[in-house]
Amino acid sequence: MKILIIGGGGREHALAVSLAQSPRRPRIFCAPGNAGTAAIGQNVAIELDDFNGLVRFAQDEQIDLTVVGPEAPLCGGVVDCFRRAGLRIFGPTAAAARIEGDKAYAKRLMKAALVPTAEARIFQRLEEAKTYAASRDTGLVVKASGLAAGKGVIVCPDPADAILALEHVMAERAFGSAGDTVVVEELLKGEELSVFALVDGRTIYMLECAQDHKALLDGDTGPNTGGMGAYSPPPTATPDLLARVERDVLVPIVDALNNDDAPYQGILYAGLMITAAGPKVLEFNCRFGDPEAQVLLPRLCSDWLDAFEAVVDGRLSEIDMRWSSQCAVGVVLASAGYPVKSETGKVIEGLDDVENMPGVHVFHAATRTLEHLTLTAGGRVMCLTGIGRDVAEAQERAYAAAERIHFDGMQYRRDIAARASPTSGSP
Ligand code: AMP
Ligand code: GLY
Repeated sequence: MKILIIGGGGREHALAVSLAQSPRRPRIFCAPGNAGTAAIGQNVAIELDDFNGLVRFAQDEQIDLTVVGPEAPLCGGVVDCFRRAGLRIFGPTAAAARIEGDKAYAKRLMKAALVPTAEARIFQRLEEAKTYAASRDTGLVVKASGLAAGKGVIVCPDPADAILALEHVMAERAFGSAGDTVVVEELLKGEELSVFALVDGRTIYMLECAQDHKALLDGDTGPNTGGMGAYSPPPTATPDLLARVERDVLVPIVDALNNDDAPYQGILYAGLMITAAGPKVLEFNCRFGDPEAQVLLPRLCSDWLDAFEAVVDGRLSEIDMRWSSQCAVGVVLASAGYPVKSETGKVIEGLDDVENMPGVHVFHAATRTLEHLTLTAGGRVMCLTGIGRDVAEAQERAYAAAERIHFDGMQYRRDIAARASPTSGSP
């Protein structure tokens, strides 16, 4: 069995590790991969947007299943290209991935399907958007409608800041054409929760949940990032709440996509705010979260490969997945300057040491090898995931590992999962 993973971040390394553990012993290829995936399988030097190159590689190598990590190739239609070539691939088509790639579309779909979400207005003209923002006296969130590498959302507790944010997105075109349409929505308060489900077009199978930490600095301060750490399971994810999310969010949105001739197949990720009035959707994503994947994937006891194949073959109703009762805490080590302009090319020390620590997974993200050295190659360098019988033990293990790694300018949050383990304190 041969598997191709598309992507090269921490999520894709975690996918590679999980799939390599399948009893079917698949050979793993990763395009473009990183230093971590190179140690498990073979990296392939094909870029994410080179769909023809990826299809050709899958044909030449007789790849049995391709799994797509990031949103950009999904929204760009990589699944459509593979399917046209008769190749098996796990992920939504471009039409279904629009749920992430076009926030205005997602909002309209949610409204029509009565999915609870922040009240929002959609604008294509700056003046109209500014007039609306000026008329509001509560906090607002300005979102570029298109894909902006996780950076297109500006949270404005003071509505006056929303006017500056609108100018930044629509006049200065900070996110290019992704900001031609903007969504301006009410600022919601509460705990955030990332919910994941496998969907095969009809059947929905809810996975375990995770909580991400989006802000750069401790105490949820500093700029927004792709995610500085995550843990699973979060205490907010009670069975009652999850049943409500399935009934009020997942079922109606999967139905709405079907009615829109965009049946959903793959991982559906709902970013929620658990407000006083119940769960509300902040966004849908068409893939696993990063770093949520680094704490979710290691918690499954059964075979991820079986689960992905069941989705691709439309047999999700037949499978059963077994989860570990253990907790996972993932701490992201980032480069100096992240998320604005990251330093790269720094030597990473201590890797051999942590790779042998019990209850610790090292998931590479922006790393590359140069002879016998491992170097940093971007903003989020790696995620250290600790596994333990409770959050406190998992947290202790992740932080013990972080203390043994070093590279120039390394930064990480000291309070990942502190909310779930208030007595453990942070190291
Ligand atoms: P998104 O990419 O839409 O999930 O937004 C990124 C982050 O911005 C979220 O994880 C939240 O922390 C924050 N955010 C987005 N929408 C809202 C909202 N309506 N109210 C409060 N915070 C929000
Ligand atoms: N960690 C958030 C995301 O992957 O979008």
